[in-house]
Amino acid sequence: MGNVLVTGASGFIGGFICNEVINRGHICFAAVRPSSDTRDLRHENIHIIHWDFNDVRGMADLLSKYKIEYIIHNAGLTKSREESEFFKVNAEYLENLCEALSQSAITLKKLVFVSSLAAYGPAVISKSLFCQ
Ligand SMILES: NC(=O)c1ccc[n+]([C@@H]2O[C@H](COP(=O)([O-])OP(=O)(O)OC[C@H]3O[C@@H](n4cnc5c(N)ncnc54)[C@H](OP(=O)(O)O)[C@@H]3O)[C@@H](O)[C@H]2O)c1
Repeated sequence: MGNVLVTGASGFIGGFICNEVINRGHICFAAVRPSSDTRDLRHENIHIIHWDFNDVRGMADLLSKYKIEYIIHNAGLTKSREESEFFKVNAEYLENLCEALSQSAITLKKLVFVSSLAAYGPAVISKSLFCQ
């Protein structure tokens, strides 16, 4: 059993991740914004914590306070009108999270980063896949 922080917990994929975390017997810390819809996160083993990716010191304190052992970093923008917003949320927030980790008192066992297909680009499908 471990303490698992899930970012983007209020999103489509985040909800599934939180459920899987508690189904596997862990304690889930759902990192959300004050404005996030948390109706699907009501469970005694899911603890809602308000999380600000712009506040490195604040994140470091929360990581230490809740003795986080695993992080599933799933918060992200799947679409945005502003490229700068896209970059800020999908890249800079990961950087801030890593900085918070280095300022915290915890020793993380594992960080899982949920990236996007957009980072890879369209797949080139080899003909040989279809000819077997
Ligand atoms: N859905 C897919 O098929 C798919 C496939 C491959 C990869 N992914 C990746 O999986 C991740 C989650 O996708 P999803 O489909 O679950 O998206 P989603 O339903 O839009 O959820 C996004 C989550 O990220 C949070 N978030 C967005 N902007 C934020 C910000 N500025 N600050 C803090 N939190 C923020 C949202 O919080 P709020 O609720 O407060 O808005 C929400 O919890 C993304 O990184 C996406 O690229 C998704």
